[in-house]
Amino acid sequence: MCRHWTRALIAGLCTLGAGQAALAEDDPMVNRLLAAQCAQCHGTNGYAVGDMDGLFDESYKDLYEDLMGMRSEDRPEGIMDHQALGYTDDQIRRIALYYGMLSGKVNEAPEIEGG
Ligand code: HEC
Repeated sequence: MCRHWTRALIAGLCTLGAGQAALAEDDPMVNRLLAAQCAQCHGTNGYAVGDMDGLFDESYKDLYEDLMGMRSEDRPEGIMDHQALGYTDDQIRRIALYYGMLSGKVNEAPEIEGG
């Protein structure tokens, strides 16, 4: 009886540790640097000037899916299709996560392809 408890507890702690390691790898500084590229057009922290679309309200999930969609266009046409082509899957995920953190919309995680 008691043994089972201990084992479950240890397994629980290990899972917790693994989760934290994954978070630590997601260096917020790196995410911010990547996301800063978008500021050239969409404004600092996604607060755009003038008629430009802002990114400050984007959720992690929506932005990730948008960017992956733009990148998978057969014939990239718009500015954004080309922007999206410049990033790897992981960089897109990091950028989306950064803006999701800013807007507080990170509750729903996107389905990450292949990983
Ligand atoms: C060179 C300027 C430029 C840069 C840099 C840029 N964008 Fe854009 N973006 C645009 C323009 C112009 C549009 C609107 C026209 C279009 O969709 O092609 C747009 C549209 C978007 C939209 C759609 C907005 C909506 O509400 O429909 C999203 C999402 C977006 N950009 C995200 C990003 C992200 C994330 C980055 C950084 C990786 C980024 N953009 C970098 C110019 C840029």
